[in-house]
Amino acid sequence: MRLSGKSTIVTGAGSGFGEGIAHRFAEEGARVMVADINEENGKRVAGAIKNAVYCKVDVTNTLQVRAMVQTAVDEFGGLDVLVNNAGIAQRNMPMLDVPEEVFDRIYAVNVKSIYLSAIHAVPVLRKNGGVIINTASTAAVSPRPGLTWYNGSKGAVVTLTKSMAVELAKDNIRVNAINPVAGETALLAEFMGGEDTPEIRQKFINTIPLGRLSTPTDIANAALFLASDEAEFITGVCLEVDGGRCV
Ligand SMILES: NC(=O)c1ccc[n+]([C@@H]2O[C@H](COP(=O)([O-])OP(=O)(O)OC[C@H]3O[C@@H](n4cnc5c(N)ncnc54)[C@H](O)[C@@H]3O)[C@@H](O)[C@H]2O)c1
Repeated sequence: MRLSGKSTIVTGAGSGFGEGIAHRFAEEGARVMVADINEENGKRVAGAIKNAVYCKVDVTNTLQVRAMVQTAVDEFGGLDVLVNNAGIAQRNMPMLDVPEEVFDRIYAVNVKSIYLSAIHAVPVLRKNGGVIINTASTAAVSPRPGLTWYNGSKGAVVTLTKSMAVELAKDNIRVNAINPVAGETALLAEFMGGEDTPEIRQKFINTIPLGRLSTPTDIANAALFLASDEAEFITGVCLEVDGGRCV
């Protein structure tokens, strides 16, 4: 058991990568808070996992993020691992066509959420040390056209990860990111421009040397490693899980 007895929060765990991470963490002995704005999905995922609780949270709302952290502390007796995974995409389109409110929401969910979770979780993590994992994206490293503002939000996540890592190292808090390549989740259709067809999928797959999309299991295995003591000397890393796409 690589996360035996650890108290963990996974945001955006109601589907996709977060759901995979929640299951994997629980399999390795962690207590898991499934934190998601979507109550139906969050309850479904938490209900399927022994040792999990659901917490309804909008990660852009400071009071709700504070309550999320407090509930984890109350339920599990502390906090060891926080995964900032909740995220939204823009639909693939020319950059000048993206409405301002879409831009604002992308930066609130993908970037401000990391600020808010730091404000509320870092004081708790400082007590015994801990781990923060941010889900960034290969979009930060090798941006595709049509996703400009989303790509920029993930660039911010990468830089925040490195900066938090150096600033929080003295508190024994490790901060790392995962950069998934396009994966089989609800977001995929948005990346493809609203339509998920075999032809467009193949175009994406053609850019990935290992010849397939990423899966929640791929991302969950990387998160498990980064959360575990096996990664105790790893901080400030943004780990591509991308079948070679960024080479
Ligand atoms: N799927 C991909 O191709 C891909 C590639 C690289 C990175 N990512 C990143 O992976 C992360 C997970 O995305 P996914 O692909 O699993 O998508 P997903 O849509 O399946 O899951 C995202 C989850 O986040 C939740 N969420 C959205 N806004 C929220 C908010 N304000 N507060 C709380 N929860 C909220 C949603 O309800 C959903 O359950 C995101 O950060 C995304 O940007 C995805």
